[in-house]
Amino acid sequence: MKKHIVLLPGDGIGTEVIQSANEVLDVIADVFNHTFTYETHAIGGCAVDKYNNPLPQETEAACHKADAVLLGAVGGPKWDQHPSHLRPERGLLGIRKSLDLFANLRPVKGFSKLLHASPLKEELVTGSDLLIVRELTGGLYFGQPSERQNNGESVVDTLAYTRKEIERIVDKAFQAAQLRRKHLTSVDKANVLESSKLWREIVEEKKAQYPDVTVEHMLVDATAMKLITKPTYFDVIVTENMFGDILSDEASVLTGSLGMLPSASLREDSFGLYEPVHGSAPDIAGKGIANPLAMILSAALMLRFSFNLKNEAAIIESAVEEILNEGYHTADLQVKNGQRVNTAEMTHRIVEYI
Ligand code: NAI
Ligand code: MG
Repeated sequence: MKKHIVLLPGDGIGTEVIQSANEVLDVIADVFNHTFTYETHAIGGCAVDKYNNPLPQETEAACHKADAVLLGAVGGPKWDQHPSHLRPERGLLGIRKSLDLFANLRPVKGFSKLLHASPLKEELVTGSDLLIVRELTGGLYFGQPSERQNNGESVVDTLAYTRKEIERIVDKAFQAAQLRRKHLTSVDKANVLESSKLWREIVEEKKAQYPDVTVEHMLVDATAMKLITKPTYFDVIVTENMFGDILSDEASVLTGSLGMLPSASLREDSFGLYEPVHGSAPDIAGKGIANPLAMILSAALMLRFSFNLKNEAAIIESAVEEILNEGYHTADLQVKNGQRVNTAEMTHRIVEYI
């Protein structure tokens, strides 16, 4: 298989962990006889420095032509005082919008070696392996009007969705469930919100198209509780933008470290943008000690969702599990009787395993 990938390292540890993902993809290409070609472009703070624009036009154009995009992280204290159009995050929001990436997927898996690192009891998180599918371009964060009214004495935000917007995210979630344990939980607040009632209707309509998937509805408050009292209950969760924002941060504590969490942002075709959940980590940038696993696991998601290379993705994920089981870990992870390694050594272990 031949694929063209745009790399957007960004700032801080973004440049360090992108390098790791690149090495892992190269060994996958080698072992499985694929051809991956790469093009690197600037985004975020480094693009502000070089082009006075956090999302240069050539970066945007290259992403539109690629089969998939890998992004490190953007931002840092150097750009904190910049006016809003010259802030690194503008680059990130700009590229998601320009590419119409409406579905944000965040898998949360408790790796057995790291279970004790969770603030939850080990026996509770053991076996947890779930995926949150969050709607990313509609709902409460984008609905109009959103403003102060009556001379500032009242205020309004709007939770708005069209049928088409709900259908496409629900389809994504059903399809993701088909690649997993085929259990979909649709999360809403249908006892109160009109938007949730339409959301439920559409999920009910869609389920005939995915007869192999078991689907249920759950209220968002009940879901928030169940996520920490019985996380192993869940396989795939689909929900609107704000509910997904809150639930995905809640779920992220199951794994113990920010350095372990990958994400995918998708649209209707197979194209996607893949990035770790963490930021540019200015406190450790340039030291070569960043945990590359969130970025490497993001590359695995790219293989699965954009290139349909399920085996290759699974092998990267097993490599991560295995290397952790052998006791290797980066400085952000506490592992009993483990062996601490830097970014390059961790990457090397994964590459060797593959
Ligand atoms: P952060 O995620 O960069 O760092 C939080 C803490 O976790 C730090 O102590 C950091 O050293 C540690 N950490 C994060 N990723 C790690 C990794 N892979 N390995 C080892 N340790 C890791 O969040 P923070 O400090 O709030 O933000 C720093 C900068 O990153 C800010 O400019 C922020 O705007 C930006 N940011 C960018 C994001 C993105 O590009 N998607 C997301 C979040 C923040
Ligand atoms: Mg958030």
